[in-house]
Amino acid sequence: MNLKTTYLGMQLEHPLMVGACPLANDMDMVRRLEDAGVAAITMPSLFEEQITREQFGTLYDLEAGSESFAEATSYFANIGDIRLGPDNYLDQIRKVKAAVKVPVVASLNGVTASGWLDFARQIQQAGADALELNLYTLATDPLETAEIVERRELEIIRTVKSSVSIPLAVKLSPFYTSLPHFVKVMEGAGADAVVLFNRFYQPDLDIEALEVAPSLSLSTNSTLRLRLRWLAVLHSHIGMEMTVSGGIHSGEAAIKATMAGATGIQMVSALLMHGPERLKGIREEMVNWMEEHEYESLEQMRGSLSLTKCPNPQAFERSNYMRVLAGWKA
Ligand SMILES: Cc1cc2nc3c(=O)[nH]c(=O)nc-3n(C[C@H](O)[C@H](O)[C@H](O)COP(=O)(O)O)c2cc1C
Repeated sequence: MNLKTTYLGMQLEHPLMVGACPLANDMDMVRRLEDAGVAAITMPSLFEEQITREQFGTLYDLEAGSESFAEATSYFANIGDIRLGPDNYLDQIRKVKAAVKVPVVASLNGVTASGWLDFARQIQQAGADALELNLYTLATDPLETAEIVERRELEIIRTVKSSVSIPLAVKLSPFYTSLPHFVKVMEGAGADAVVLFNRFYQPDLDIEALEVAPSLSLSTNSTLRLRLRWLAVLHSHIGMEMTVSGGIHSGEAAIKATMAGATGIQMVSALLMHGPERLKGIREEMVNWMEEHEYESLEQMRGSLSLTKCPNPQAFERSNYMRVLAGWKA
């Protein structure tokens, strides 16, 4: 069965990779991922705030106290609170690169186009094969327009792109007024691939302690739906590679993402819940499904259920919203 794909110009045997998360901070996990046949390894993000040493705001670390990992297994609990500082991060890239043959993708996460982005060059020098840039903007200022936010994000992409020669993936949130437009201009700014999507970790309110309570839930199958829609829409409009991140828990989910147009498939929650070995199971499920349905390659099915290729494109659009609401039965 031919599962071959490309990611950021690299040839991969199959599209299943680990997404940005603390698994790659642990060398035992890294080896287990390779034994399970992972196609590429994404490092957890290094945050702008870690580089500039500013106070953390509403980012992962705030939400990464061990108490917020209630539903996680021991894999998660043991490694969840390791966050490496900049120097150790570079060391970890070198260690992971030395330990595995598969491509290693580093990750930067930040919101300003300023000096911290110079770190991208050090990431390249440390041996990363590619860089994923996570644009995790939380707009809280009513005086700041969407245009200003997007212009700043494009500036970040241009700055990073001009300082490294390794390929650049950009991981986005789904919260853009016109996602297809932003992805298109992002391509012009130098992004080589888009990763859909970031998950925004929404804090809860503790009404007894009168506090905002950090919370982090792992994804479920239904997390995939939002990704499927946007993969399907974007497949028809952009030439860039698209990688799905969010809700891949089975081979069937990976097939759906491919049919919607994904070339790369990232997993985090499934591997945190079941261990790195789950990756192998998902690959087998994909192959079994493809054999049963007489597919020979992923290429054959890629984009077959995208907006312009599927038999009922209106299902992705507004008209379906009316039909779904009207068709609801108790
Ligand atoms: C514990 C944990 C840590 C994460 N750390 C990062 C990170 O450092 N950078 C990042 O871009 N995404 C991070 N993510 C988000 C994942 O890369 C991924 O986008 C998200 O979990 C959705 O994929 P999934 O449904 O396979 O979990 C993290 C997720 C979890 C659960």
